[in-house]
Amino acid sequence: MERVLVTGACGQLGSELSMALAGIHGSENVIVSDINGPIALLSGMTFEILDVMDRQAISEVILRYGITQVYHLAAMLSAKSEQNPELAWKLNVDGLINVLECCRQQGISRVFWPSSIAAFGPSTPSEKTPQHSVMDPNTVYGISKLTGELWCSYYFNQFGLDIRSVRYPGLISYKAPPGGGTTDYAIEIFHSAIKGEEFVCYLKQDTQLPMMYMPDAIKAAVQLMQAPASQIKVRTSYNISAIDFTAAQLAAEIMQHIPGFKVKYLPDYRQEIAATWPGSLDDSCAMSDWSWQADHNLKTMTEDMIRQLFIVRTTS
Ligand code: SER
Repeated sequence: MERVLVTGACGQLGSELSMALAGIHGSENVIVSDINGPIALLSGMTFEILDVMDRQAISEVILRYGITQVYHLAAMLSAKSEQNPELAWKLNVDGLINVLECCRQQGISRVFWPSSIAAFGPSTPSEKTPQHSVMDPNTVYGISKLTGELWCSYYFNQFGLDIRSVRYPGLISYKAPPGGGTTDYAIEIFHSAIKGEEFVCYLKQDTQLPMMYMPDAIKAAVQLMQAPASQIKVRTSYNISAIDFTAAQLAAEIMQHIPGFKVKYLPDYRQEIAATWPGSLDDSCAMSDWSWQADHNLKTMTEDMIRQLFIVRTTS
């Protein structure tokens, strides 16, 4: 029986991943934590206020609940990080080191930590980016993710800490709002469409980014964490991929369902960030090592997002 701790559990990924983990391990065995909260999505699980910059507090929670696995999700996303680079570095890197060190000291059996497509940079080949490639991120978020990957690999090599990671694309979901990423436009666009409003897109229409629907993001984390350790050959972070589209392609897909939907393109500083990220990733290592395969494509994701958001709108 596992006892699981999730940090950053009130976030876009944390809230839905915590629900999935409660389904797998039993809600009594999933301890959810965040610096603020709790939120309604986490009801039925034990909630702790936890600041990952406070190493002592992490250690106490692990001890108090007999934690055996940690999903460390607390972080600041790309756009927000550019507003406060120093805090982003402290939260994303010092926070990770605190968690890794507590896990090492307390013999945690498995750790999950998300990296990102942001770990790549302007010199990275932008189409079908290989697992092992040039990485020269020029955002503080990307620098923190690349550094984090190297710390994970260091803790695995030096101390045998079984830490596993994926480089998430932009995550699309409707249950909890995203927290200040460059890819958030791909969620906001649905909300505008549902309300019958024109959407002002902060990326150029031909900017292509790798994206993923939340059920696939959850599946990746769960599948990776369930795989036997012998199958995990990459100890920095795995490329995973699902849906690659430009802003204009997403808008066109939404228009299939909501004719007359209008989008205006007014690029801002986030366009500069997006321009340094790959347009698609080669995820063949994840496929061969632990059988990774996404289920959703642009069509099925768009259909489900619109259906779910209409349900939320008519029932609230
Ligand atoms: N979705 C994230 C962001 O835009 C990328 O990891 O910051």
